[in-house]
Amino acid sequence: MDRFRLDVHASEQDIVGNIAEDVRKGLTSAQKYLLPKYFYDELGSQLFEQITEQPEYYPTRTERSLLSSSARELMERVHPREMVELGSGSSYKTRVLLDAASQNGGLPRYVPFDVSPSIIESSAAALLNEYPTLDIHGVVGDFERHLPEVPPAGGRRLVLFLGSTIGNLRLDERRSLLQQIKLLLDTGDRLLLGVDLVKDVATLEAAYNDEAGVTAEFNLNVLRVINKALGADFRLEEFRHNAHYNHDEARIEMHLMPRSHQTVSIKDLDLTIEFTPEETIHTENSHKFTRETTGSLLEEAGLCLDHWYTDPDNMFGLALAAARP
Ligand code: SAH
Ligand code: AVI
Repeated sequence: MDRFRLDVHASEQDIVGNIAEDVRKGLTSAQKYLLPKYFYDELGSQLFEQITEQPEYYPTRTERSLLSSSARELMERVHPREMVELGSGSSYKTRVLLDAASQNGGLPRYVPFDVSPSIIESSAAALLNEYPTLDIHGVVGDFERHLPEVPPAGGRRLVLFLGSTIGNLRLDERRSLLQQIKLLLDTGDRLLLGVDLVKDVATLEAAYNDEAGVTAEFNLNVLRVINKALGADFRLEEFRHNAHYNHDEARIEMHLMPRSHQTVSIKDLDLTIEFTPEETIHTENSHKFTRETTGSLLEEAGLCLDHWYTDPDNMFGLALAAARP
């Protein structure tokens, strides 16, 4: 029997349609902005993987070690028969949970859900090899639009949303995504939500300004994506990476700063945009949380915090949540 199936809900056409609308809206706004989901073409996904290996970028290794120390207890609490992972990327940290599930009766099915088809295909190929009894049902889609397309549950479900990807969304988007996630949870099912925690500014800012310049390259890549998708003529060398902590909003903001006054044409949108060095393009927010703000966010979406895991230095949190009846 075939152990791999892939459903594609965001076709290339669909993505191109949306990018056109989103880019027009973002670049004609008073504060120019671009949406972070457009970072993740094949190169962008690879650059993100490289970010996670930088010494300054603590979230991935901290969350992984937190998962290692909590996985057994977590499996005993939940006893999942399937894991659905949103924004699954390389599924690197998921292996910790797959290993723990193997020692707890095994896990029949894994459902990775990501906007990037290339990353799902490559991670599924590796996982099928590493876990010979695991079935994988991948879903290519936008988790803000296609969650109802997650295949019906094949038993008790653990939904994973790791890496603090929820922090890349606005408050209204976070709420509505969690409300959608609630609809995926039946009695006994759980959500495991990874959140990066508020901490000293130097540690936070260093994580988004690595010495090797990988985050800068990741940030600039969104211009490359737009050049390719919409026939634009952004010159990447004319923009500079900027990442700083915004205290009032408890978030790291990433921007691209024009080095000079310049004009960019976006052929497929029939649009010409002027840039001046004073005006940035806001490319990403990465919100930081506390146990309290995470609990309130879950509550507002009809979920409740069942258990909270954190590391000894309080760098990263894992919230285990259930749907309120
Ligand atoms: N969960 C992994 C990867 C995080 S990177 C980790 O913790 O390391 C963020 C991932 O979310 C990327 O793989 C990206 O392709 C995916 N992603 C971003 N926006 C998305 C969206 N709107 N819908 C689905 N996937 C999205
Ligand atoms: C995927 N996401 C949680 C990362 C973050 O830290 O906000 C994306 C990232 N941006 C710059 N570095 C990493």
